[in-house]
Amino acid sequence: MDSRKTVLISGGAGYIGSHTAVELINAGYDVVIIDNLSNSEKEAVDGVRKITGKDVAFEIVDTCDKDALRKVFEKYRFDTVIHFAAYKAVGESMAEPLKYYQNNLVSFMNIVEMMKEFNRPNVLFSSSATVYGEAEHLPVTESTPRQPATSPYGNTKQIAEDILRDCCRAYPDLYGIALRYFNPIGAHPSALIGELPRGVPNNLVPFITQTAAGIRECLSVFGNDYDTPDGTCLRDYIDVVDLAKAHVAAVDRMTEGKMKEKYEIFNIGTGNPVSVLELITTFEDVNGLKLPYKMAPRRPGDVTAVWAETTLANEVLGWKAERRLGETLKAAWEWEKKVRGV
Ligand code: UD1
Repeated sequence: MDSRKTVLISGGAGYIGSHTAVELINAGYDVVIIDNLSNSEKEAVDGVRKITGKDVAFEIVDTCDKDALRKVFEKYRFDTVIHFAAYKAVGESMAEPLKYYQNNLVSFMNIVEMMKEFNRPNVLFSSSATVYGEAEHLPVTESTPRQPATSPYGNTKQIAEDILRDCCRAYPDLYGIALRYFNPIGAHPSALIGELPRGVPNNLVPFITQTAAGIRECLSVFGNDYDTPDGTCLRDYIDVVDLAKAHVAAVDRMTEGKMKEKYEIFNIGTGNPVSVLELITTFEDVNGLKLPYKMAPRRPGDVTAVWAETTLANEVLGWKAERRLGETLKAAWEWEKKVRGV
């Protein structure tokens, strides 16, 4: 394995991690996946192997366990880590803040510390558009001020960004990129990997596909009295395969020594705002089905609208979202059907 072309992926059995592993391998990288399987299945790694035809290295490791992580650094040589491993349920983070701070921050600090200890240069962090909160101007650019986090989950994203910025500033050999994802949706076109939430999904698209599969009775649209064209919230839904390719572009930038700053931030979205109702209608149209849904009260903590200004990612990373919403929602449904045997 060439260390420059090898990437450690923490949380690589998860939704975005597994898709990123596939695209990195397709682009000629070797990957090492670590995951504690706390919110993922090892079958996702099998899916990555099937899609790529490569025998991907996989270790069950909790990134909060520094000694176990050190063993991974001793065993494999890689220049780059992509850190996905984190809890991500907003509501749960309000009820159990310590669980979130403990897991999301300790794991990230362990990763950065090991990178420093082993002189490995590149850290790519999985951040979120949640850092923008209810922004004053839309679309948001990377220099739009972050708003105070409204949940411990969101706060862990902000704090981890700051940790990475400060460490890149302090340690001469360390470089960092934070990718701020908008709303990742969809699944790999092979239907071999996709999103697999445990219990009742918090996010819109998994709730839609589970409703279409008959697992949920009815979808609730959280609020139709927002100040938007149809009254429902606007988001920037980004196909998970496009998102995975953005990671490849960022890893290329780091490994080819093209970074202009030691720490850089990129918005990863489509640049197109889509309402909840538009998303539902598109899902129904492309998949030829009707979805039972009803209007419901607003969900506390939701922002009215957020979508990305993508110029920086387009021009500097040379990356652009390509897949159309309809294709993405078709892939999401194909995956759900496959998982449920519908
Ligand atoms: C949520 C998180 C965000 C996190 C992201 C990860 C909140 C408040 N925010 O974003 O911090 O980074 O997930 O993917 O949870 N909706 C319904 N009915 C549903 C589910 C959702 O109408 O059953 C609506 C929501 O009100 C929102 C839109 O669908 O307007 C998208 O919701 P969701 O998929 O949960 O994403 P975000 O809330 O944007």
